[in-house]
Amino acid sequence: MPSTPAKTPRLTGEALHAGYESRRVLDGVDLAVAEGQLTVLLGPNGSGKSTLLKTLARTLTPSAGRVCLDGQDIHRRNTREVAQRLGILPQGPSAPEGLTVRQLVGMGRFPHRRLWRQDAERDARAIHAAMAYTDVAAFAERSVDALSGGQRQRCWIAMVLAQETDLILLDEPTTFLDLKVQVDLLELLSRLAHEHGRTLLLVLHDLNLAAAYADRLVMMRDGRIVTSGTPRDVFTATHLKGVFDLDARVLEDPETGSPICVPTPRRGARPSARPASPTVDRRCIS
Ligand SMILES: Nc1ncnc2c1ncn2[C@@H]1O[C@H](COP(=O)(O)OP(=O)(O)O)[C@@H](O)[C@H]1O
Ligand SMILES: [Mg+2]
Repeated sequence: MPSTPAKTPRLTGEALHAGYESRRVLDGVDLAVAEGQLTVLLGPNGSGKSTLLKTLARTLTPSAGRVCLDGQDIHRRNTREVAQRLGILPQGPSAPEGLTVRQLVGMGRFPHRRLWRQDAERDARAIHAAMAYTDVAAFAERSVDALSGGQRQRCWIAMVLAQETDLILLDEPTTFLDLKVQVDLLELLSRLAHEHGRTLLLVLHDLNLAAAYADRLVMMRDGRIVTSGTPRDVFTATHLKGVFDLDARVLEDPETGSPICVPTPRRGARPSARPASPTVDRRCIS
C-alpha cells in the first residue's frame, strides 16, 4: 500500500487494471500524484510505466478501477477539459517532417482553440513564454528534425508548457541524452515544480538522477507498484534488488544527502589491473 503523500493529490489512480487486447498490464495500481511535487516513476522495461501514464492521462481506458483528476472521474470529463488541465508527453514522440519549432510549440495551444473564438494574443504569449523558459527561441524557425536530441526534447517540453496545464506527465524525457543535457532538463523540470507550483509525474531510467531530483519515487514491477515514498525511504538496496534485480550498494551524497546507488560487479567482472591496496607490490601484478 503506497504511503499517503503530504500534499493534496491532483491525480489519483484507484485499483487500476489496464492493458491491451492481447495483454493485461496494470494489475491493481493505486497511485496519488501530489500537488506541486516532482514524482518519478521507475521500473524495468516492460513493467507498465508507459501504460500507467497513458491510463492516467485518459489515453487508455482501464478495464477496472478509476482515475480521478481533481477529485472527478477523468473518463466523465471531455477531452478538451482534460487537455486544459493535464499535459502529457508520450515516450519517443515524433514530429511531422519539416515542422518548425514554433509550429510544434503552437500545437500545445490546440486544447484552447475553438472555431468561433480564438485568442491569438493569449496563444502567442503562451508560445513565447514556453519557448523562452525552455530556451528554444533561438531556433524557433528551424525544422524540429534538424535539431540535436537535447534541443528537440526541450522543444517537446515547450509544446507541453504552451498547453498551460499545471499537471504535466512526461514519459522518459531524458532517455538517450548526454548526462549534462539530462541534468539541464531535470533542473528545468524541477524548477517548474518547485518554483512555479506545477505538478509533475516523470518516467526516468537513470536511478541516481531520479533519486537526486524526485520529491517522491514510485517503483513498479510487473504491472504493480512495489513501493513509493521519498527517495531516502524507498531507494534502498533491497528495493533495487526486488524491483530491478540489481545488486548495488546505496550510499549517501555527502553534500545533498540524496541516496546514490553503486552497482556491485561480480568478482570476474571487476577490472583485473586494479591494485588490491595502495601498499601492494606492483611487481607481483603480472
Ligand atoms: N500497444 C501495445 N499492444 C500490446 N502490448 C503492449 C502495447 N504497448 C505495450 N505493450 C506491452 O505491455 C507491457 C508494458 O509495456 P509498457 O507500459 O510500455 O512498459 P514500460 O513503459 O515500463 O517499458 C509490455 O510487455 C509491452 O510489450
Ligand atoms: Mg515506456
